[in-house]
Amino acid sequence: MIEFKNVRKVYEGGTEAIKGIDLLIPEGKLVALIGPSGCGKTTTMKMINKLIGLTSGTITINGIDISEKNEVELRRNIGYVIQRIGLLPHMTIEENISLIPKLKGWKKEKYEYRVDELMNLVGLEPEIYRKKYPLELSGGQQQRVGVIRALAAEPPIILMDEPFSALDPISREQLQDELKHIQSSIHKTIVFVTHDIDEALKIADEIAVMKDGRIEQIAKPGELIASPANEFVRSFIGEHRLNEGKKEILVADIMDVNPISMQDGESEYETISHDATLSEAAGLFISKEPQKLVVTKGDKYIGSLSKSDILHAVASENRREAPSQ
Ligand SMILES: Nc1ncnc2c1ncn2[C@@H]1O[C@H](COP(=O)(O)OP(=O)(O)OP(=O)(O)O)[C@@H](O)[C@H]1O
Ligand SMILES: [Mg+2]
Repeated sequence: MIEFKNVRKVYEGGTEAIKGIDLLIPEGKLVALIGPSGCGKTTTMKMINKLIGLTSGTITINGIDISEKNEVELRRNIGYVIQRIGLLPHMTIEENISLIPKLKGWKKEKYEYRVDELMNLVGLEPEIYRKKYPLELSGGQQQRVGVIRALAAEPPIILMDEPFSALDPISREQLQDELKHIQSSIHKTIVFVTHDIDEALKIADEIAVMKDGRIEQIAKPGELIASPANEFVRSFIGEHRLNEGKKEILVADIMDVNPISMQDGESEYETISHDATLSEAAGLFISKEPQKLVVTKGDKYIGSLSKSDILHAVASENRREAPSQ
């Protein structure tokens, strides 16, 4: 268990990055820190392994104040995936992953097996990649190595600072699934920084929403959605999920793709852009009373839209949204 009590951090130069936070990270749980850029996520994380000293307050790990702990020993027991990967460029992938296991005195056989096991886990074929250097890998591949390097020595605590940010959406989802799967059997205490609310909702046991050096709310994913503590938290969760769940229907989604010929009574037509919304289209019918709308994309006519097209779209949208009983 990691516990922050009234922790503040003022950087040299006066930036008050952390303004007194209390935070409890239970043993074996994954807690996500989320919030806008500059709100203090990385600072919070780096104070746990003493890469950054705190200005006041205390951090304890299993009840022991970290200020009493030797930094080197502390870090050996805390896996760390830094925001910008941080592989050692002059070491091969294999050497990077086995670095801490070696420092901990693991036998060659044991750490070599572990390297292969972890590389396979994230889809990097050991035969191909073991002897390569970080710069010979893509950004996403390097990030995978960064993640498995933190897991290699099986530390009880793992800090992950936006570990999946450089991955394409598919690899990202795969690694999220992998992490969830691994965590369901290893139960490490994980602090996971992300910008992505969907990622946090998917993998975290608890989510701490930060803003400007403070924690606005800490709650389980379900609780966070059910009862956001304030407007900031609501907008942080809401915007994204609203965009996902309630996409507005656009003219292009429902238009008739056979454009009408403009000769038959041009004056009775109005034009509307393909990316206008259904309500904008309806507004035009009301204000200008055209017979039909001609749908444009740039300077091309790409389709048409009638009043009944709009009515049908609205009716079927209502059917879709009606509670099924
Ligand atoms: N070494 C430093 N010296 C002075 N100020 C710093 C230092 N590191 C960070 N800061 C400041 O502290 C605040 C918090 O920074 P931090 O890196 O913790 O934010 P973050 O939430 O991790 O942001 P991001 O999402 O962009 O990574 C910012 O205002 C930043 O400018
Ligand atoms: Mg950061």
